[in-house]
Amino acid sequence: MAQGNDPVKIMKQEVGKAAAAKVQSDSIVGLGTGSTTAYAIEYIGSRLKTGELKNIVGIPTSFQAEVLAKKYGIPLTTLDAVDSIDLAIDGADEVDPQKNLIKGGGAAHTREKVVDSLASVFIVVVDSGKLVDKLGSTFLLPVEVIPMAMAPAMRALKRLGGQPELRMGVKKAGPVVTDQGNLVIDVKFDTISDPANLEKTINNIPGVLENGLFVGVADVVLVGEIQDGKPVIKEM
Ligand code: 5RP
Repeated sequence: MAQGNDPVKIMKQEVGKAAAAKVQSDSIVGLGTGSTTAYAIEYIGSRLKTGELKNIVGIPTSFQAEVLAKKYGIPLTTLDAVDSIDLAIDGADEVDPQKNLIKGGGAAHTREKVVDSLASVFIVVVDSGKLVDKLGSTFLLPVEVIPMAMAPAMRALKRLGGQPELRMGVKKAGPVVTDQGNLVIDVKFDTISDPANLEKTINNIPGVLENGLFVGVADVVLVGEIQDGKPVIKEM
């Protein structure tokens, strides 16, 4: 793995590697989405290649995770074929002191919530810039919605006190379309004081598939920091 000089990239690489080091042979592993988890997937692949790890199957949380797993030689399966997931590794956009998360920066939070919630142990991998006192302070809350319900869902989100905006594609004309063929509404809330309640309330809006609040799902949060110019991994 090439190490550039970008400190955020270095933190992501090291924390991804630290999580991948926790994977044990003979296990079913949930493979998260995003740039940090991509390093974990790469390192799980290297450990399989050297023979240090044996008999791993991955459950991808997105098209991105599937492509990376194939690239790095991790055999894949589906939730139809297994009863449980031993360990899931995934990134986050914000983490509060109770280990509640905002996810969905990669528009993959619906599948991520399915896989991460099923894991016996869910490890979150973040750089220290993702730690917040209150969720919603730095990141908009992603909400996946079926296309025909976009307008009423936006109105309902406004009634909840949010400022919704449709997520638009980069290097693509028009909106982001999720792996399920849906749209993502990013919502600014002034404060999210009760994440558990907001998670349920938003998911009750007709046409909403899932939102990016992950409350009580994370077991372990590994945080990459730079101290005295060197990457350090801490457990929250
Ligand atoms: C994708 C996610 C990602 O895990 C989250 O956006 C963090 O990504 P990154 O590690 O690239 O910062 O929730 O839907």
